[in-house]
Amino acid sequence: MTLPKRVFSGARPSGRQHLGNYMGAIRNYVALQEEFDECLYCAVDVHALTTMTSKEETGEIQQNIREMVLDWLAAGLNPEKSIIFVQSHVPEVMTLHTLLSMVTPMGWLMRVPTFKDKVRQMEATDESVPYGLVGYPVLMTADIILYKAEVVPVGEDQLPHLELSREIVRRFNNLFGPVFPEPQARLTESPMILGTDGQAKMSKTMNNHIELAATEDETAAKVKTMVTDPQRARRTDPGRPWVCNVYKLHHWFNPDKLDEVYRECTAAGIGCVDDKKLLAEGVNTYFSEFRERRREFASRDGYVEEVLLDGANRAGAIAKETIREVEESMGLRLKAR
Ligand code: TRP
Repeated sequence: MTLPKRVFSGARPSGRQHLGNYMGAIRNYVALQEEFDECLYCAVDVHALTTMTSKEETGEIQQNIREMVLDWLAAGLNPEKSIIFVQSHVPEVMTLHTLLSMVTPMGWLMRVPTFKDKVRQMEATDESVPYGLVGYPVLMTADIILYKAEVVPVGEDQLPHLELSREIVRRFNNLFGPVFPEPQARLTESPMILGTDGQAKMSKTMNNHIELAATEDETAAKVKTMVTDPQRARRTDPGRPWVCNVYKLHHWFNPDKLDEVYRECTAAGIGCVDDKKLLAEGVNTYFSEFRERRREFASRDGYVEEVLLDGANRAGAIAKETIREVEESMGLRLKAR
């Protein structure tokens, strides 16, 4: 039985996805297809623009969308069930963004913690911060409620945004009538996946990531660079799996070998080099079918474009309905009938 609710999630088109994206988001997107009636998964290209400062960066958007969508499809997002599309292909989201900006107090936006972080990251000041970045959560709200989605799978870092979305919805509904349902965050349960440095969360920016679409050799080479127990200097030293990021990843990719690895590592029976070989094998096995499917989708001429066009058409039909309702309720249009 599927629940008659809509799911929406968005991700900035960041190119090839990595283990962290998969464990934190993508596999959950896939699972939600079984639980809910309709899921929309969106590559939010306009959001990507909020922090881009050069033509080099924007020049990568199209390729990044393609790579990310190929990963989504290979992971099991099913375009027959789910609506897979690009944010800017449904331009009604920009209309809704503008209209929602009329009911959103600046104070709410300035208080969002991620806003302050981004301003710092961009080395912007209160004077130079782009207007679009201030409105980031308004655009995100527009994404969700344009489709009247009620369930929004996100990571913990997005909770303040979702809370703001709910406040904007409440305010809109109070002023203009009950047009929108309040969206609910749906937290993905999974511990943070650390990067190969064993320090920071896995990310492309930190270059401590392992791409899902990497070859077996690339995967092995990346895993080889992973930081293990820093106190285990020699092969004969016993290791401490509880501080080792390689061991943490065995939980996901070699769940049946956990006890053995623990025993052998703490007894210095297995060295870090062999342990990493084991992890690389685990990752490669885990993603072998994924990689096969991805190659197949990538080789079909025009396939990704076709999926995205169909997604934009289906999303666009819902969007037009909502915009009509919003414009009527805000007095921009005579009520039909
Ligand atoms: N802000 C989200 C992120 O950085 C991406 C996003 C944009 C999103 N619009 C959304 C997520 C709507 C969920 C719903 O990860």
